[in-house]
Amino acid sequence: MALVPYDHSLLPGLKKLHDSSSAFQFAGRHVKISQDWGKLGVAAVVWDAAVVLCTYLELGAVELKGMSAIELGAGTGLVGIVATLLGANVTITDRKSALEFLQTNVKANLPPEVQMKARIAELTWGENLECFERSSYDLILGADIVYLEETFQDLLNTLDYLSSEKTTILLSCRIRYERDSKFLKMMEQTFMVSEVHYDPERDIHIYKAQKHPTSRDL
Ligand SMILES: C[S@@+](CC[C@H](N)C(=O)[O-])C[C@H]1O[C@@H](n2cnc3c(N)ncnc32)[C@H](O)[C@@H]1O
Repeated sequence: MALVPYDHSLLPGLKKLHDSSSAFQFAGRHVKISQDWGKLGVAAVVWDAAVVLCTYLELGAVELKGMSAIELGAGTGLVGIVATLLGANVTITDRKSALEFLQTNVKANLPPEVQMKARIAELTWGENLECFERSSYDLILGADIVYLEETFQDLLNTLDYLSSEKTTILLSCRIRYERDSKFLKMMEQTFMVSEVHYDPERDIHIYKAQKHPTSRDL
């Protein structure tokens, strides 16, 4: 197999990941997200799935005002920032290595009067879940977090732990490989899963999931 040198200037879809920031207009505000692909990789750039999920939230498809939400694998925090601006109380989480950068973006984009509605917390899927309240969230959000097969079971355990039958889970995904669909199949054992939105331009699906009434919390 020939090895083709990686040149992001040839792939415009990837080039924007190397920009030092990306800017958006959400919830009537200018949101500017710093990026640092070189230093922190996937957690420090805004993925299309996050943009599509923010747009979906802004359309009002789910109630956010006063809701208790948690974002998993938040990366730069764009989704958590927008959910907070739209009125939710949001716990914005990622692995420890991503938290400092995440905190900077959250702080830079939330006006002082809503800063207290967003909390940053370390959450590596499947680990130390007892630090979070079980089954207590109205909404669980995740953008482009279904991509590592070795994390699927831990991610599923995390969703199961954090949710009740009343929780709405929104996962915004690009289905890159067959294994990504496998995760959705795994989810169906515990949750009712349906596709609620598709953005053909960015090739992003949004799936909504809710726990089966019969399933028992872990
Ligand atoms: C493709 S990025 C998506 C980031 C952001 N949600 C977005 O769409 O812009 C995947 C994110 O999942 C996080 N992640 C990967 N494995 C994880 C794990 N085992 N536990 C928690 N977060 C994880 C990464 O740190 C990264 O922020």
